[in-house]
Amino acid sequence: MAPPSPLRFFQQSLQQTATVGAVWPSSRALSRAMVAPVFSSVHRDGPLRVLEIGAGVGPVTEELVSRMLPGDRLDVVELNPEFCVVLRERFGGAQVPPSVHEVSILDFNPGIRYHHVVSGLPLANFPAEMVEKIYARIFELLEPQGTFVMFEHVMGRELMNTFTTGQSRERIGKILEIEQSLQPLVVERRTVPLNVPPARVLVRRHPGSSGES
Ligand SMILES: C[S@@+](CC[C@H](N)C(=O)[O-])C[C@H]1O[C@@H](n2cnc3c(N)ncnc32)[C@H](O)[C@@H]1O
Repeated sequence: MAPPSPLRFFQQSLQQTATVGAVWPSSRALSRAMVAPVFSSVHRDGPLRVLEIGAGVGPVTEELVSRMLPGDRLDVVELNPEFCVVLRERFGGAQVPPSVHEVSILDFNPGIRYHHVVSGLPLANFPAEMVEKIYARIFELLEPQGTFVMFEHVMGRELMNTFTTGQSRERIGKILEIEQSLQPLVVERRTVPLNVPPARVLVRRHPGSSGES
C-alpha cells in the first residue's frame, strides 16, 4: 500500500530538495487562506477557470475542489511525477476533478487564460532569471482582471539574504529586487502562523489591470 500523502511529500522533499522546497505539505489554515481570494470574488458571473501551480500532494487542491462548482475548470501543473500520481489518485473522483499536467509551468501552454492562478512554487530556491520568467508566464496565463495568489515563508528570503554568502546571496538579492518591483501589484497580504514554518499569503493583481476592484 502506498504511504499517506504527507509521507510521500516528505520522501520527495529529501530527493528533490530544490524543486519541492518544503518538508511537509501546507497546513489546512494556509491552504484555506490560499483559496479564500478565489472564492471571495464578487464577480463570479460564470464558470471559474483556476490554475494551480506546484500542487505537491494537494492540500490546496483539496480546498479548491471542495468549493468548485460543476462547469468550473481546474488545471493543476506539477513537475514531480510522484506527486502527479498522488493528485490523480486523490482527486480523480471529485465533482470537479482537476486536469493534472505533469510539466514545468514554463512549458505549459493551455491556450486559455485563468481567472485565478494559485501557486505553491518555492521561488526562493530558483535562479533569479527563472523566477523572472515564471512571473512573466503567470501574468501571460492570468486574465487581466484576475488574481494571482502565492505564499512565502515569513522572513524566508530576508533570512536567506542575511545568512548566505557569495552567489547564493547574490541570487536571493536579485529575487528580492524582482519581488520589490512587483510590490505595487499586491492587493492583499495575510500572515498564517498555523503552518510550519509560518507563512504569508500574497495576492497580486495583473500588471495590465486598472488597479480598481
Ligand atoms: C513547496 S511545494 C508546495 C506543495 C503544495 N502546494 C503545498 O502547499 O503543500 C512546491 C511544489 O512545486 C513543484 N514545482 C517545482 N518547480 C515546478 C515547476 N517549474 N513547475 C511546476 N511545478 C513545480 C514541486 O514539485 C512541489 O510539488
